[in-house]
Amino acid sequence: MNVSLPDGTPLHVEDRGRGLPVLFVHGFPLNHAMWQGQIEELSQSCRTIAVDLRGFGGSGGAEADLLTMDRFADDLHALLAAMEIAEPVIFCGLSMGGYVAFRFVEKHADRLRGLILCDTRPGADNEEGVKNRRQLAEKVLRSGPEFAVAAMLPKLVSEKTNAERPQVIEQLRQMILQTDRSSIAAASLGMAQRPDSTPLLPRIAAPALVLCGREDTLTPPNVMRDMAGRMPHSQFVEIPQAGHMAPLEDPPAVNAAIREFLQAVTG
Ligand code: MLT
Repeated sequence: MNVSLPDGTPLHVEDRGRGLPVLFVHGFPLNHAMWQGQIEELSQSCRTIAVDLRGFGGSGGAEADLLTMDRFADDLHALLAAMEIAEPVIFCGLSMGGYVAFRFVEKHADRLRGLILCDTRPGADNEEGVKNRRQLAEKVLRSGPEFAVAAMLPKLVSEKTNAERPQVIEQLRQMILQTDRSSIAAASLGMAQRPDSTPLLPRIAAPALVLCGREDTLTPPNVMRDMAGRMPHSQFVEIPQAGHMAPLEDPPAVNAAIREFLQAVTG
């Protein structure tokens, strides 16, 4: 379904199941379909709300020049209000979705029951990282999402996924190719501007599950373990034989960790 934000932008949302609301926020430059393995199973025991961020998937707003993590976080806050979801949610974000989660924690902590951070990092980009984001934005605007496929796809999954699950690679390729080039550029520039969320970590009052593919080279386990260690109520789970896209690469293992976390949160 589509939900209109106060500025009229429609956000596409897949809303399934009943009970505790869990908001799933995709990585860059993907869409809510990356969570299909979670939606199918977890919607049997909770309410799964998988959203396409502004400019991505079936949502509107692709014309923006800059899509910041603050903008996405404020959109999600407005989305919950528009859907009349009053109870605090579990926010589950992967990579860029995690960067959005940090901004949501900073600005809308009262809307949060718990946090699931998958394959993400708290730090800001260094100078070289910012330069790479700008280059990616320029090249994608010029050549289209094919450039993002070539730059990103080889880094997203583990050796096992690469060898044994070609359908996962194809799914990722299609998601990137279907993304509007201006949104890829705008979010790349937005990520380059994101602040360092490390100082926020000790202040996160909500319980958190920190999940990482053991072969994630983009947001590696040592970075995520350190991040979990700085959060007062967190647990760290490593998913063996998975890379940066752990939820898509090994849904049963990721779902088991999420189910256990949700049970602990709800008592
Ligand atoms: C993602 O998966 O969202 C990206 O790897 C995030 C990033 O480029 O930092």
